Amino acid sequence: MIRILDITKAWYSRNTNAKKRNMAHNNNNLMGKITALCKRRGFIFPGSEIYGGLAGTWDYGPLGVLFKNNIKKEWWRSIVELREDVVGIDAAILMNPKVWEASGHVEAFADPLIECKICHERFRQDAKEDISEHEKMHEGKDEKKPEWTEPRQFNLLVKAFLGVVEEEKRTVYLRGEITQGVYANFRNVLDSTQMKIPFGIAQIGKAFRNEITPGNFTFRSREFEQMELQFFIKPEEKESEQWYDYWKEERLKWYADLGMKKENLRFRDHEPSEKAHYARFATDVEYLTPAWGWKEFEGIHHRGEWDLKRHSEFSGKDLSYYDEESGKRFIPWVIETSGGVDRTALFFLIDAYFEDAMGSEQRVVLRFHPKLAPIKVGVFPLLANKPKLVEKARSIYNALKPNFVCAWDDRGNIGKRYYSQDEIGTPWCVTVDFETLENGTVTVRDRDTAQQERIRVDGLKNYFEDKLR
Ligand code: GAP
Repeated sequence: MIRILDITKAWYSRNTNAKKRNMAHNNNNLMGKITALCKRRGFIFPGSEIYGGLAGTWDYGPLGVLFKNNIKKEWWRSIVELREDVVGIDAAILMNPKVWEASGHVEAFADPLIECKICHERFRQDAKEDISEHEKMHEGKDEKKPEWTEPRQFNLLVKAFLGVVEEEKRTVYLRGEITQGVYANFRNVLDSTQMKIPFGIAQIGKAFRNEITPGNFTFRSREFEQMELQFFIKPEEKESEQWYDYWKEERLKWYADLGMKKENLRFRDHEPSEKAHYARFATDVEYLTPAWGWKEFEGIHHRGEWDLKRHSEFSGKDLSYYDEESGKRFIPWVIETSGGVDRTALFFLIDAYFEDAMGSEQRVVLRFHPKLAPIKVGVFPLLANKPKLVEKARSIYNALKPNFVCAWDDRGNIGKRYYSQDEIGTPWCVTVDFETLENGTVTVRDRDTAQQERIRVDGLKNYFEDKLR
């Protein structure tokens, strides 16, 4: 079944049954279409492409950077700006290497790796599909199935070397998670603010991992961004479980409020064997992808006292908290929400991708939540060869631009311009026509319904502000 809908009958296709939808996604090589669209329209490019690329790195193009910034902006607003109990920081990527000894990453941040005994190519032991493809390749080429080495632990931290004298360069690590900058600044934040437990410290930034098998587009990259909250609480079992449940629900709600379909979201608790070294218990927020099944894109972790206790021990600095209410001093426990910005962007893209039939025409549309859409308003003159229309459209574009990210387009016919904006998820298009010159109204066309209504030019700003609210 192809997921092509008659927009007049069924544009509410967001509610399409998830199973059917995913079959359709598969049948139509949806991921191929999405990656092609990302490149063609300037969302995501392969990193260093002109030099043949660098595995596991991606560059965000003109639309991609707007889209990704919107995700980060919404996250920061909901986690930091709209709350009294969370503050933000922006810590350095490079940290004293002792940080990573204390955090346990030097010792335990590793994936099991196996090596093909024929060609010495290496894979994550759990990358079953890649391994089976590799075996098939050898079966075809060498007429035998390769043997594999025993799994061994491969540390994911990326090393760098700092210093100007070659022999005296110091080994440092590019942070494997953005988290540790928060713990290293716990005392600084306590001393410089009036935060009292329970409270959180939030951060957004780049992390680096020497992934054995990067792949699935941006899903597993070697350089990526995280958006994280470390929420500090009393070391009490029952209360910590309540906060853990609270943050699980908050995070799921955030994705759903920004338009991600609920049927494509679920929690999956970690088995004891897969828990990170710091986690007392953990759950993943997963998304039902069309090609790869359920995939994690955020982790909610109960980190207990692991990090602050270890940093106290390794640094020799007191990272305990004095609770004035109870008169007790303790090392706080931490509930962490750790989302990947790139995976979130990828899953919002997949979730928003639709192919519609509108009469005899077919279109691709990204039904982004307007707050996430890279461009909010497209502005066009109906005809590019009518100076009065162009002049009026330009004045509207210039008036809207300080308030909304706008696109100008006067190429081709109006239908093509609409489709071009649909394909990048622009929620509204304003067209200036001859009636505009007579009565000061324009047509505003809605991306999802393709309905048009006439709005007064002097009411446009309020109209879009209301919609975005
Ligand atoms: N501070 C906890 C932490 O880093 P994690 O589960 O290892 O936990 C959190 O990572 C999130 O970071 C993941 O859910 C994912 O969205 C993102 N992430 C992790 N590794 C990634 C990679 N190689 N490429 C893209 N995103 C990644």
